[in-house]
Amino acid sequence: MICKNITIQNGRLLFAGQNAAALLRQYGSPLYLMDEDRIRENCRTYYTAMKEAFGEAALPLYASKAASFKEIYRIVNSEHLGIDVVSCGEIYTAVQTGFPMEKAYFHSNNKTDEDIAFAIENGIGYFVADNEEEVRAVNTIAGQKGIRQPILLRLTPGIDTHTYEAINTGKVDSKFGSAIETGQAEAITKLALELPHIELAGFHCHVGSQVFDSDTFLRSAEIMLEFIAAIKAKYGYTAPQLDLGGGYGVRYLESDPVIDIAENIREVAKFVKKKCAALGLPLPAIRMEPGRSIVADAGMTLYTVGTIKQIPGYKNYVSVDGGMGDNPRFALYGADYTILAAEKMDERCDFECSVVGRCCESGDIIQENVKLPASVKRGDILAVLTTGAYNYSMASNYNRIPRLPVVMLKEGTSRIVVKRESLFDIVRNDL
Ligand code: LLP
Repeated sequence: MICKNITIQNGRLLFAGQNAAALLRQYGSPLYLMDEDRIRENCRTYYTAMKEAFGEAALPLYASKAASFKEIYRIVNSEHLGIDVVSCGEIYTAVQTGFPMEKAYFHSNNKTDEDIAFAIENGIGYFVADNEEEVRAVNTIAGQKGIRQPILLRLTPGIDTHTYEAINTGKVDSKFGSAIETGQAEAITKLALELPHIELAGFHCHVGSQVFDSDTFLRSAEIMLEFIAAIKAKYGYTAPQLDLGGGYGVRYLESDPVIDIAENIREVAKFVKKKCAALGLPLPAIRMEPGRSIVADAGMTLYTVGTIKQIPGYKNYVSVDGGMGDNPRFALYGADYTILAAEKMDERCDFECSVVGRCCESGDIIQENVKLPASVKRGDILAVLTTGAYNYSMASNYNRIPRLPVVMLKEGTSRIVVKRESLFDIVRNDL
């Protein structure tokens, strides 16, 4: 099975040791499940490997865009990770849980003056400043508030990760960051060093998402360290921090490669240390920003089957009571998923179909070319695996369908951590 926390017992699918179908009957359909122990295990993998490989100053930051709600910040905080936040909404959610905001890094390519002021008022640790305009705006607002604001500068090392185009961010022509190649990275560094209310704490890069080859990380680390060395030589400034971004891939299908994250981190650390020695640099405090690889395999979505449509000579459709509103990733990226019939795990799967949602849109597809048991029928329960990342966080109310609840599983118990939206919630802001 692609996820360690999935087992089978008497033809039934167990998630984190609990009967998935029974949970659906208890909490209603459809719903997201999350396995707390798996989230914690993933946090520890990064925390332990980074501390061991890069030293005490290293810290993983959970990229909370992957899944953002109060309980996730509490869990991640109790595992001692920092966080990457990208909006006032994420900042507000984290603050509500008492998250130590000095360990929060504020990303985004376009922060408004209001965002900047809100982040400073809430004690944000660092801005990851994307461009010159932002550095100037942070300097002005920090000055008004009488502080010197620590920032990292987001640079684009010019790497193509060969993953989905839409989530590829490290190339020179990316909308994110300032490019090293064009000289803009150096110009913005010089500016940040001159401004009185800015404390330049180092540099950041992020080259893409769902990346499997460690080569990408080595190459971007190399480019960043060479840049740091060039800045040191020219301006006498030694960057205290280097943030290598997120991006490690997860398995959505049995055919996806298995990746040993701890081993990858050790490999990156070995390379970074060697490169620092060669360039005469002290080892910077390393940050990494995993999102997907912390929460994806800790999540599962359960649906109930409705209409089954067979179009002879063409194709078969199995409709579920959710869709692109709770999982837009196939519609957006053609993303892969594994789908199982939760109470028919002993049956042969030879009924080929598209699993589709209930929205008024042909592109409302969860997955194509799925093989389910031929006996699949209305009322059956389907489980979509590995939905912990970028599903709840990208959910919408398209067609005014209420968003799903999130149920957290831990050691045989379950609890609601995000309530199901009601029809009343749907009209809450309508006047
Ligand atoms: N750091 C930065 C600056 C990022 O932009 C991202 C993701 C991460 C860290 C976390 O990357 P991860 O470890 O999760 O790959 N909605 C897309 C993914 C967008 C990723 C955006 N940035 C999807 O559903 O696949």
